[in-house]
Amino acid sequence: AKTVTYNWEVDWVSVSPDGYVRSAVGINGQWPCPSLLADVGDRVIVNVKNSLVNETTSIHFHGIFQHGSNQMDGPAMVTQCPIPPGETFTYDFTLQQTGTYWYHAHVGGQYMDGFRGPLVIHDPKAPFSYDEEVVLTLSDWYHIQAPYLIQYFQSPLNENLHGGSEPVPNATLINEAQNVHIPIEPNKAYLFRIINMSGFAAQYFQFDQHEMSVVEIDGVYTHAHQVNQIFLTAAQRYSVIVKSKPNNNQNYAVIASMNDDMFDPGVTPDDIDQSVNAWLVYDNTKPLPPPLQPIDDDVTQQSEDDMVFVPLDNQKPLGPVTMQIPLQVNFSANAQNQNRGSFNNISYNAPQVPTLYTALSAPADLVNNPLIYGANTNPIVLKMGEVVDLLITNYDGGAHPFHLHAHQFQVIARSSWGPDNGPPLEIPTDYLAQEPAAPMRRDTLLIYGNGYAVIRFKVNDPGITLFHCHIEWHVEAGLTLVFIEAPTELQKMKLVLPQSHKDACQKQGISITG
Ligand code: C2O
Repeated sequence: AKTVTYNWEVDWVSVSPDGYVRSAVGINGQWPCPSLLADVGDRVIVNVKNSLVNETTSIHFHGIFQHGSNQMDGPAMVTQCPIPPGETFTYDFTLQQTGTYWYHAHVGGQYMDGFRGPLVIHDPKAPFSYDEEVVLTLSDWYHIQAPYLIQYFQSPLNENLHGGSEPVPNATLINEAQNVHIPIEPNKAYLFRIINMSGFAAQYFQFDQHEMSVVEIDGVYTHAHQVNQIFLTAAQRYSVIVKSKPNNNQNYAVIASMNDDMFDPGVTPDDIDQSVNAWLVYDNTKPLPPPLQPIDDDVTQQSEDDMVFVPLDNQKPLGPVTMQIPLQVNFSANAQNQNRGSFNNISYNAPQVPTLYTALSAPADLVNNPLIYGANTNPIVLKMGEVVDLLITNYDGGAHPFHLHAHQFQVIARSSWGPDNGPPLEIPTDYLAQEPAAPMRRDTLLIYGNGYAVIRFKVNDPGITLFHCHIEWHVEAGLTLVFIEAPTELQKMKLVLPQSHKDACQKQGISITG
């Protein structure tokens, strides 16, 4: 294993991926942001300098376990203070897993302004072979900067303002661009790592006349499964192997198409680019075929079914279950008439001091008491070794892609869409008796409108573990909670807070001890 060091200066860059010029958050003067590439076992050091001037920042490494390094997880006011303008901050952790991940800003919707990129961990013992590897990112793109859109989304519900509707993206991008040419040679096996870095839209993805064999989802190797289309919610990843054609007689189109289920027609501009094409270019002297038409949600429901994937290790359900936590998901107007999301009727509001620092500095006899973390962060304390089932019931009519930091959870049960106007479908009381033999594992799962899911994980990663909807608008609307995972063991770990972490707090007058 080696140490990979990245020095990233974060700053505004002028970009126009769909022809419309705006500012994006770039790295070292470049946008799209670079890929973070490493091998399993490597130590990664990322030195971040915030040169944005007008915004704080922070980086989350999506799907990374952070065993013993919770202070490097990245969400602002959870495991660190946001990095103030002008400051430098160091992330330093070791990679203990393999596969396809990504990194993104974890403060105030900033990743929707472009601060997002692939994170790929190579595995010398990967259980499949291929000749070439290509990373493809899918993303939704807005013409207006995120802070304005958040303000609009969280403005009081009002028919003219449509304050309750999520802002609709202006465009879809592949590799943060339109019409990307992917050079392809005949007769080869290509590993495509496909990452949905969208802030809102789920995406359908398809190669024209090339089947995909799915071999990994969210960092978990799966039994190979042939499909011709995949569906990725915000934050999900799929690795697929594609055999190229035996000759270079022609070129082929590739399409990513946003699912518009949650786009309120009242706020959807007429001219959005709902889909984007890229091209498999076998021979650049030959013409490109016509673009593919946007993918129609209604005829493609089948590609949404990720329950068909089975982890390659056939891991059985963890057990016995020692804790069952019912979570009710809701959206409703608060007293100020803002559209707020909640778990068990609590909307998340960030604390005054990052939750991790509260846990580290608490007296040992209080650290397991949820009250010290503040009711507005929706804290749930979990003891080391506990096997937890989250029994999630969605009282909202929209589907939500839920993400648990630092774990790959097992999907024990999931319903399809519930009735349009509720009430939601109920979790079968005997769900434990119906567990799949080898449940799918991943880190981001779609739960359908008025539907439910049961997900299971083992408490093995002391630290503060966020659980939230990965639609960035819904994070801003408070659809987040924090697990205080094994705080007693966390205190014994003696985590080292680099000076840059203390400085970030101090510069903003946030007092931390220890
Ligand atoms: Cu990619 Cu808190 O998440």
